[in-house]
Amino acid sequence: MDKILILDFGGQYTQLIARRIRDLNVYSEIVDYDISIEEIIKKNPKGIILSGGYDSVYGDRSIKPNKGIWDLNIPILGICYGFQVMMQENGGQVENDKDSEEYGSTDIRLTTNELFENIELDNNCWMSHSDSVIFLPKGFKVIASTNKCLVTSACNREKKFYGVQFHPEVTQTTFGNQLLQNFVYSICDVAGDWEPKNIKLEKIEEIKSIVKDDYVLCAISGGVDSLVAAVLTAQAIGDKLYCVFVDHGLLRKNESQEVCALLKKLIGKNIFLVDQKQLFLSKLKGVVDPEQKRKIIGKTFIEVFEKVANKINVPFKYLLQGTIYPDIVESGSKFSKTIKSHHNVGGLPERLQFELLEPLKYLFKDEVRKLGLSLDIPYQNVYRQPFPGPGLAVRVLGEITEDKLEIVREADFLFRSYIDQLYKNSEHKPWQYFTVLTNSKSVGVVGDNRSYGYTLALRAVDSMDAMSAKWYKIPLEHLEKISSIICNKVKNISRVVYDITNKPPGTIEWE
Ligand code: XMP
Repeated sequence: MDKILILDFGGQYTQLIARRIRDLNVYSEIVDYDISIEEIIKKNPKGIILSGGYDSVYGDRSIKPNKGIWDLNIPILGICYGFQVMMQENGGQVENDKDSEEYGSTDIRLTTNELFENIELDNNCWMSHSDSVIFLPKGFKVIASTNKCLVTSACNREKKFYGVQFHPEVTQTTFGNQLLQNFVYSICDVAGDWEPKNIKLEKIEEIKSIVKDDYVLCAISGGVDSLVAAVLTAQAIGDKLYCVFVDHGLLRKNESQEVCALLKKLIGKNIFLVDQKQLFLSKLKGVVDPEQKRKIIGKTFIEVFEKVANKINVPFKYLLQGTIYPDIVESGSKFSKTIKSHHNVGGLPERLQFELLEPLKYLFKDEVRKLGLSLDIPYQNVYRQPFPGPGLAVRVLGEITEDKLEIVREADFLFRSYIDQLYKNSEHKPWQYFTVLTNSKSVGVVGDNRSYGYTLALRAVDSMDAMSAKWYKIPLEHLEKISSIICNKVKNISRVVYDITNKPPGTIEWE
């Protein structure tokens, strides 16, 4: 399979570059900027992309690729910082030039070039730079300019080196996709054989060849990643896969039954459903601190999982995990500043001594979803909204009791059903929507009587990746209807409020 390597210089859009290339049906992989030449040769890419970065190429601490990269005879595209590195390392000059700084949408004039094939020459691109190339290396020529920046793009056709100061990977550069397509197809001559649904067979073969005659254990949470990993692995090794699903009693309405029914249908054998609701509730009794709740749930999950694994009495060699590519890039990158702390119940201790089996580790979330569909996992499971590992425990503020769980579960079900129905035919529905049972009570009136029930919060947000989120503007008349349905149908709720906090400063979950 043809491959494009992306050297990561720490720019905020590196993952986006990888995404865009894969959208062109070309496999792409992000590697550290200082990857050794031997490693590159081993990976045998058809092309290399140098990502953006946040520093200046002339600073004391500036980062550079290994010098041998320029002699590999592989086409290279430098983007922003990557372009400046290419220029400087080949004999050009980059300087901070206040007059040529550009941020945001910028008019650009392209010249006829294979990189700009099928692109209008008078165009618009997305800029974000204070440094500029002021002197070209030998063998390079300017192929695009803006009013402020003469060397906006340059190339050395003989070496197949191309560079752009702007960002083709962001949607604001409307011709960006075409440019990347020109680079990978016309210049790197890739076959374009990457298709997530086609990798099903390849992955199945890969799992077979790793596992051989050994046994694999998997903790299923009901989330998309572990589900896809399990169904895929089951298709590869059949009944050598054992799945454990721990019901901690903190799931949504009907969720455990639905997940179990699905596992039975798609995997069939060796599924262990462990009902530990009472154990979790007893451990959480009296606990009000959110972090404490999370820790107790994580620890109890591991204890239960370990016990079940031992009871099964099979010599497991592998632990199957639904790790996906962003998890790896975020935790493995030299620039991982904005890591989301993972608080999944699947984080198992090292003493379990399994080898990890991670068949999805080079896939992005939407690729995992496509693969899931090709494995016949139903659409609603593949596209289900995120749900935290500690479940409803972080949506019941204060002490968790069975009664409170029941209230939030019922209200959540009504709210979700309403939203699902409301946005059924719409392209754009909230990314995540749920209810939170606050710990405060307020006075209400039911018939002629005074009531004194809980305040329930509705939360609906729009987000791409949960790193930031905007509160969702559900029309007021629908908020009114939802409020009325919940107050009428769920006992012990006397007030419904709507959360209008963005992230930041708030978080999506309340605890
Ligand atoms: P926050 O509340 O940090 O949530 O803005 C960001 C996203 O992560 C989900 N979330 C979790 N997911 N285990 C998970 O698997 C957890 O402990 C957890 N806590 C929050 C949350 O629902 C949102 O989508």
